[in-house]
Amino acid sequence: MSLTIYCLNGPNLNLLGEREPAIYGKGTLADLETYSQNAAAAVGATLVFRQSNHEGELVDWIQEARRQAAGVVINAGAYTHTSVAIHDALKVLTIPVVEVHLSNPGIREEFRHKSLVSPAASGVIAGLGPLGYRLAIEAVVALNQQKRV
Ligand code: DQA
Repeated sequence: MSLTIYCLNGPNLNLLGEREPAIYGKGTLADLETYSQNAAAAVGATLVFRQSNHEGELVDWIQEARRQAAGVVINAGAYTHTSVAIHDALKVLTIPVVEVHLSNPGIREEFRHKSLVSPAASGVIAGLGPLGYRLAIEAVVALNQQKRV
């Protein structure tokens, strides 16, 4: 049976392609979704790919993932650095959670150095652009396989 993975994207990621292309690249969110859907299909997973600018909606989707998904790939955008609500929602999950960032927040402004997602994540991938999404999807599948060993 194919694994369902939730790929959740936070604020301003809808503006990919227009938003600071020197940092985030020229690809749009639709391009990122196509790339991620192909990456999921290649490993036999079903991807639910969503974006919201609203913290509460992201929390609702994380809660939904508890029942519906075998893992979560999350780029919480700026909420990464501020959201206790997203941290708490992720903490409830018992499925793999992979934090992903297109850029590498660790080499950017000081306020991006702290992540409230990381303490609730199985692992973190940052700075690799869309490739990070592919690796995160593959990691969720691999972590699910490990569970069964
Ligand atoms: C980001 C990094 C965050 O610091 C920023 O607020 C974003 C995007 C990334 O993918 O590199 O919105 O999560």
